[in-house]
Amino acid sequence: MPIDLAVVPVAGRGTRLLPLTKSQPKEMLPLGRKPVVQYVVEELAHCGIERLLFITGPGKTAIENHFDIDGELISHLRETGKEELLADLDFEREQVEYFYTRQRRQLGLGHAVQCAQPFVGDQPFVLALGDSVIGPSAKSDVVRRMVQCFEEQNADAVIAFEEVPEADVVQYGIAKPRSAAGEIFDLADLVEKPSVDEAPSNLAVAARYVCGPRVFEYLAKTKPGKGGEIQLTDALRQLIHEGGRVLGARLQDGECRHDIGNFQSYFRALLDHLLNDPELGGELRSQFSRER
Ligand code: G1P
Repeated sequence: MPIDLAVVPVAGRGTRLLPLTKSQPKEMLPLGRKPVVQYVVEELAHCGIERLLFITGPGKTAIENHFDIDGELISHLRETGKEELLADLDFEREQVEYFYTRQRRQLGLGHAVQCAQPFVGDQPFVLALGDSVIGPSAKSDVVRRMVQCFEEQNADAVIAFEEVPEADVVQYGIAKPRSAAGEIFDLADLVEKPSVDEAPSNLAVAARYVCGPRVFEYLAKTKPGKGGEIQLTDALRQLIHEGGRVLGARLQDGECRHDIGNFQSYFRALLDHLLNDPELGGELRSQFSRER
């Protein structure tokens, strides 16, 4: 059966984006006309995901509200003659069933993924970080390619990677490919946020994974690592060291990842979406270039 289940962790506090995230989840920040997490869900739905489990935490109810069907708003738009705005709520009718569970203690990404285990059982699943979009406009099918590769190659996990500038390796999980890294490659090692000197490459984990059930086995044994948190990277690393088949899939030209974890990357993502807005982007771009 094709993989139709995705786990989307959205429990992080967003402390690097204060005060913006004091009372709203970073996943609900706007990227042009839609909040970040809507792009994530649209990308997953586009790749065949039909069941989606959010791992939430304190202050994240706006995400649940966003994906509810808001009957009151729909009636209000109808009654006030604003039917044309109903199209903006089309995403509510996406063929996806939503489920929610809470990470009750903030112990890291690896721990957030562990919270999904009672729901997921021993099915393979897609893992998509809720604060990262793969551009442009959620049209990427990297997840579909990863699922295909996972199934064809009987892998234990497939991880998306993107090349980053050398200085940025300190922010990501970094791959050590077994041989020259093509579009799909075997991993010899994976290191969470290495120093520039220790980084085995500049291929950075790009917020999308396909995981088989062995990942839970390794997460259960993982001790706190970088930042005192239980790191998913450390569990996957151990899986590789013990003979697990873990593959990398590169993002392709035109597929860029934006993570919304800090102001620099959020501003870049925001500008990209504003300047490429189908209605107002052209005007904005010419205004900017005139003013410079
Ligand atoms: C997490 C992962 C890291 C990955 C990054 C972006 O880090 O631990 O390996 O490269 O997401 O996908 P975070 O941004 O939560 O610190």
